[in-house]
Amino acid sequence: STLIATSAANAANSAIDNILSSNELKVCFEAGYIPFEMKTKDGRFIGFDIDIAKHMARSMDVKFVPVNTAWDGIIPALQTGKCDIIIGGMTVTAQRNLKVMFTDPYIEIGQTVIINPALKGEITSYRDLNDAKYRISSQIGTTGAEAAKKHLPKATLDLFETSADAVLQVANGKADAFVYDLPYNALYASQNKDRVAHLAESFTYEPIGMAIRQDDPNFLNFLNNYLVQIKKDGTYTRMYKKWFES
Ligand code: ARG
Repeated sequence: STLIATSAANAANSAIDNILSSNELKVCFEAGYIPFEMKTKDGRFIGFDIDIAKHMARSMDVKFVPVNTAWDGIIPALQTGKCDIIIGGMTVTAQRNLKVMFTDPYIEIGQTVIINPALKGEITSYRDLNDAKYRISSQIGTTGAEAAKKHLPKATLDLFETSADAVLQVANGKADAFVYDLPYNALYASQNKDRVAHLAESFTYEPIGMAIRQDDPNFLNFLNNYLVQIKKDGTYTRMYKKWFES
């Protein structure tokens, strides 16, 4: 019957079939999001997400294929089959979840602000930035940009294609503050102590998940069980410590 034919067709459409037939796990991310994904000087990709992706590929007995993709095109890249999965520090949001399926969260973060160190006395909370006299930067299409619009509507917001360009505005004195994910801001501030200050108070709740195409319960089941396994067997802790506690 039509019903049986349809469900057979769906089963054949799992990303798992593409992965196994090509022997490749193609992973979309956007390098530059420290410490989740970075590009080394010699062109390799490293970071927390990259370690998980490589380990995941090994567990499937296939090759890890990195697909470094501009952030604002990363969901279209998944949807058009340029990759099988996004492992890119992507926050699970209601709007994104209407377009893609997310795994259970593998880390939870929140937004914080990096400020010009000259403002240290006058800005003690992100709330103080909600004033027309301040200029804020963030990255296009991120939850940082959304948080700035929602929580700091009175400030002027400048959006940039990359987080590096956005945070540089503050380091160069062209913006007062940068709104972005806590792990990124903490690391950037520790590496640029003389140029920026970090207010570590986080003001949003953001579960980070891996995104896959819709209608793929087989792959989703694989991934959620994979995440439980690495969280319980020490793999996740080893990778977490390597990137967040060293
Ligand atoms: N967590 C934020 C978001 O989902 C920022 C992620 C940026 N990730 C990246 N690979 N550049 O919007």
